[in-house]
Amino acid sequence: MKRLWTIIGGVVLGVAIVGGGAFYAVSTREVPVEKASAATGLPMTTTDPAAWKNIFPAHYDSYMKNAQMLEPALKYASSEKKKSRLEQFPYMTTLWNGMAFSKEYNEARGHLFVLDDVIGGNGTAATKRIGAATNLTCMYCKSAEVPQLIEKMGNSFYNTKLLEGNNKDQFVHPVSCSDCHNPDTMELRITRPALKEALTRQGVSLQYLTRQEMRSLVCAQCHVEYYFNPKDANKVTFPWDNGFEPEEMYAYYQKQGFSDFKHGLTEGQMLKAQHPEYEMFQGSAHQKAGLSCADCHMPYMKEGTTKISSHWWTSPMRTFTESCTTCHKESQEEMESRVLHTQDRVKEGLDRAGRANEAAIKAIEAAKAVAGVDTKMLDEARALHREAQFYWDLGSAENSMGFHNPQKFLETIADSIDLARQAEVKAIQAGAKK
Ligand code: HEC
Ligand code: HEC
Ligand code: HEC
Ligand code: HEC
Repeated sequence: MKRLWTIIGGVVLGVAIVGGGAFYAVSTREVPVEKASAATGLPMTTTDPAAWKNIFPAHYDSYMKNAQMLEPALKYASSEKKKSRLEQFPYMTTLWNGMAFSKEYNEARGHLFVLDDVIGGNGTAATKRIGAATNLTCMYCKSAEVPQLIEKMGNSFYNTKLLEGNNKDQFVHPVSCSDCHNPDTMELRITRPALKEALTRQGVSLQYLTRQEMRSLVCAQCHVEYYFNPKDANKVTFPWDNGFEPEEMYAYYQKQGFSDFKHGLTEGQMLKAQHPEYEMFQGSAHQKAGLSCADCHMPYMKEGTTKISSHWWTSPMRTFTESCTTCHKESQEEMESRVLHTQDRVKEGLDRAGRANEAAIKAIEAAKAVAGVDTKMLDEARALHREAQFYWDLGSAENSMGFHNPQKFLETIADSIDLARQAEVKAIQAGAKK
């Protein structure tokens, strides 16, 4: 209930700031009701997007735009084939020493590439991050067949090897209509159990979600931080029990005593953050004003002869007129330079935090080699580094380069740098003590 009130409060604030007219356009925007509410007659098990092609041709065409490789690329939103993040951010290889992300890590691409980017042809993995130990869990956000497989297999889904036998052939379609819509009524729905479970643990009543909340929650099925919970059959789990703030998620992991990997150089127990778009968005100016992910990423757009909610999930800077000018009256050029200014500052901050974490790792590694090192202090240095790197990673793994919540990004980066430098000093002291 608390969250519902935040939304209502947010709407009032939004009206106050932006002006009733502008906000009205977002919250009660017209949709072609006769189509939206029409029963398609398709079976509930339908996952193939082509099944909806003749029923909603404009939506299908819009959806197919996700297969485009876009030129020219924007400065921070990519959509380019296998643009390596490890090459752009050299310190990442040190930060993730000992885990799969140090082998290969590329920029995100559109929803139609999600399967191709994991499973290549001829039974080979399309990324070095996939190996014999990889479970089906890795497909959680990559394929429309996942919800039905979980229903069929129960918890064994999370412990079955992806590359064994024909297992990977069960994943046929990338992100599809059925991931967000009831295939028959086309109502928005949540298909991923981890989101339902996380919201339920937060005390949110799933029956009372508003339309505007659903317009973000369909995205929060995948665009969130998660882990594989060893205490619960390795199920995909969201660390939200204390809230969405970086410190609250960190406190959750501390309480669980959870680690994703042992660092190859420091031997510290580490966390790996994943794309927390939904979490970082919470508390931003736009979230407080009542906006949902769909307001910017799925604006009302002309598609052929009709107007629909865009199903081309890309940078809103490519749909600036439809996404932003309902509220902002500044020119596109002016807004672009504001967005880039924020992103450049965040990029610079992330690089500084990344290098501070690298320095902490080097100091811990050096101290480890000292005979008679103070092991208690060394462990304290490792603990500081664990927290520091988690905060850097939350900011780095998020895909908007800070735009979604500039203030929260800059605070999280500052915390990371501070903790990393404390870790470095502590490690140097540990090594200097006889
Ligand atoms: C079933 C999981 C899933 C859902 C639901 C989902 N996404 Fe995604 N999304 C992904 C994955 C996975 C990628 C990265 C794909 C890749 O790099 O191959 C992605 C990529 C993106 C991108 C980057 C596209 C690019 O060209 O770089 C945007 C933007 C995006 N999603 C927005 C959204 C929005 C907005 C929603 C909700 C309306 C949403 N997504 C719902 C899984 C999902
Ligand atoms: C990542 C989630 C997601 C996927 C995948 C998705 N949609 Fe949607 N769809 C939405 C959202 C969000 C809305 C806006 C609903 C609202 O405002 O009530 C929407 C709206 C619609 C509507 C209502 C009319 C409109 O334009 O607002 C139709 C019809 C529709 N989608 C069809 C499809 C079809 C067909 C596919 C597959 C080709 C598909 N959708 C895939 C999230 C999704
Ligand atoms: C106020 C508008 C707005 C809202 C609301 C919003 N975004 Fe974004 N989003 C942006 C902008 C602007 C960017 C940066 C695009 C760029 O760099 O060109 C972005 C970037 C992204 C990207 C990376 C895109 C890429 O191509 O690499 C993803 C993924 C994404 N947003 C998902 C979400 C999700 C999920 C939500 C809801 C929790 C959300 N966004 C809410 C405006 C918005
Ligand atoms: C429904 C209205 C609405 C839409 C749509 C919207 N914004 Fe905003 N935006 C706001 C409000 C409200 C604020 C906070 C008050 C302020 O600072 O002006 C804001 C603030 C901002 C800020 C300054 C604060 C910050 O977070 O840096 C930028 C930049 C911005 N918006 C860019 C965009 C872009 C780019 C888009 C389109 C992708 C967009 N907005 C879409 C309402 C909107």
